[in-house]
Amino acid sequence: MTNGAAPAVAQLILPDGHKIDQIGLGTWPLTDDEAAHAVAYALKSGYRLIDTAARYGNEVGVGQGIRDSGVNRQDVFLTSKLQNGEQGFDTTLRAFDASLERLGMDYLDLYLIHWPMPRQDRYVDTWRALVRLQGEGRLKSIGVSNFLPEHIDRIREATGVQPVVNQIEMHPEFSQEPLRAWHAAQGIILEAWSPLGRGSVLDHDVVRDLAQRHGRQPAQIILRWHIQRGVVAIPKSRTPQRIRQNLEVFDFTLSQADMTALGSIECGNRQGGDPLTWEQL
Ligand code: A2P
Repeated sequence: MTNGAAPAVAQLILPDGHKIDQIGLGTWPLTDDEAAHAVAYALKSGYRLIDTAARYGNEVGVGQGIRDSGVNRQDVFLTSKLQNGEQGFDTTLRAFDASLERLGMDYLDLYLIHWPMPRQDRYVDTWRALVRLQGEGRLKSIGVSNFLPEHIDRIREATGVQPVVNQIEMHPEFSQEPLRAWHAAQGIILEAWSPLGRGSVLDHDVVRDLAQRHGRQPAQIILRWHIQRGVVAIPKSRTPQRIRQNLEVFDFTLSQADMTALGSIECGNRQGGDPLTWEQL
């Protein structure tokens, strides 16, 4: 590190060899215009991981933000996700093309099946389409979101190909420890969506106390907890100061006692959908 330079953003290596930053910018529920501003600001501030989804309706803005930032496309790790109603082999191929067009890109770094939609039961054929697209070189890495071990086992058994990432809801009030351990054993990288519990965990006494003791913001304490658990976190913010703050988490460490205290917050407080029952198209 040179004098005065910010510490480098820590990275994890995906099972397919590609590297991923441990902090990225989430973009739900930003509009196109908000996303364009937030993404450009984040990239200029040092972010390189950007997360969107067809479902968010802001891929046009995200693509604009990347171009406005002046950062080279090949230096950005761009993720999008397949809309639930587009699952199936041919529909996935078409939906992927449409996402690229909205983003104004000719490849993606990571493409995820957004939800398993078990009643619809098309995620195995959908996964085959992602494997095909990866083989064609139109996306670098393939993964899933909101999948449970039973869904991942099934696509692995059917295709012989395992996702490199599973993106799930995770924050101190919903720490998903059994799932974290399962993914670690499988070598699948976990990404935490709503890593701040949509802001709800920031006021917790344990978080406030640690923030005071470390001279940090509550969000930084929570993001540091994610990093030390070995996951990727994608906090969303439309606020420039917070976007910057959320990346400044690589120059301090939580002790084992701090980690245990944060672990004690767990109360099963799921904020989003349950993968077993979420069926919104
Ligand atoms: P805003 O977008 O107005 O800045 P999550 O990523 O867990 O879904 O949380 C997103 C929520 O947390 C948003 O309401 C966002 O507000 C807020 N947020 C993001 N970063 C910070 C921060 N550093 N401090 C306080 N609130 C934050």
